Amino acid sequence: MKNVKILAIDTSCDETSVAITQHRRVITNIIFSQVKLHQQYGGVYPSLAKREHKSKIDPAINIALKRAKIALGAIDAFAVTFGPGLPPALEVGVEKAKALSQKHHKPLIPVDHIEGHLYSPFVQNKNGKPLRNFDFPMLSLVVSGGHTELVLMKKHLNYQVLGQTLDDAAGEALDKAARMLGFGYPGGPIIEHLAKNGKATKYSLPTPMLGTKNLDFSYSGLKTAFKRLLSKMSQQEKLKNLHHLCAGFQTVVINSLLHKLKLALKQTKVKTITLVGGVAANQSLRQQTRILCQKYDVKALFPPYKYLNTDNAAMIGVVASYKFQHKIYLNNSKVLERQPRTNLDNYVIK
Ligand code: KG4
Ligand code: ZN
Repeated sequence: MKNVKILAIDTSCDETSVAITQHRRVITNIIFSQVKLHQQYGGVYPSLAKREHKSKIDPAINIALKRAKIALGAIDAFAVTFGPGLPPALEVGVEKAKALSQKHHKPLIPVDHIEGHLYSPFVQNKNGKPLRNFDFPMLSLVVSGGHTELVLMKKHLNYQVLGQTLDDAAGEALDKAARMLGFGYPGGPIIEHLAKNGKATKYSLPTPMLGTKNLDFSYSGLKTAFKRLLSKMSQQEKLKNLHHLCAGFQTVVINSLLHKLKLALKQTKVKTITLVGGVAANQSLRQQTRILCQKYDVKALFPPYKYLNTDNAAMIGVVASYKFQHKIYLNNSKVLERQPRTNLDNYVIK
């Protein structure tokens, strides 16, 4: 089983990624990012994303095979992100994976993009590093541009969504705040950079969902409060206080995430948590998660390599290996369709 070679594809948003994996080991992981292209629009432009994925998917596959020194015929199974994501973008990867699986008569393994993020802390390099155990039950805080979710995993491929955002995702909120300040996409890293020298308490912003006992998140109220705050400031005042504004916004986003993580730790009493998704690249969030986990004597795991925070096909290939072991794949790949909106609770292994 450990020698099964999987070619995995992810085109769910703005990265065309192809990886070749062997169980948890990544042989190659190719990422063609479209970030620069979409920057001028302040967000991901779907038809442009589709066009880019279409032009990059074959080169990505060819480079991945070449670097791994593997022929297409030697691949044992194909894996693809079928959702959630931008429909025109997902379509490119799904159609390519279907065609490859049909042509080479190999199984097709559909993977949910969020499952990929959940497995990202366990992806290993070619030499099998880092060696990490899956300690079940495990709690994951998924914080990306499209999702903010707390997911409990009791065993492999078994997911229980304990809470999720009622409106915007945390990454989306950071992106929107950055846009209000006149910055491009993606806003999270820009806000993190500027926040380093800022005083978070200079402006008072509400920490979302602080008074609630459930595990859901919400960022639309904060977005409105930030907009109102900016509307009262002159351009000059905004420019002079950019660091403080970024620090203030980032701090309340982080506080809201930590508040819900703390509640979930108390409820579930798990001993291992993971912090995954694009926003998990944020150093303040990582540091404060570590502090919280130390206090509760809980092990905190983050994606071990930088590329694993943002979208990549390596994590999709690793999930696919577990699915292959559990015989969760399609022999007739024609039936697979992209699903822009998915729900992890729907495909739980009992
Ligand atoms: O997981 P991801 O690459 O794509 C989705 O599946 O959505 O996450 C992208 C999100 C964007 O909202 C981006 O602003 C945010 O992750 N992000 C960050 C940082 N790096 C990326 N947010 C805060 N701090 C960062 N360093
Ligand atoms: Zn993602």
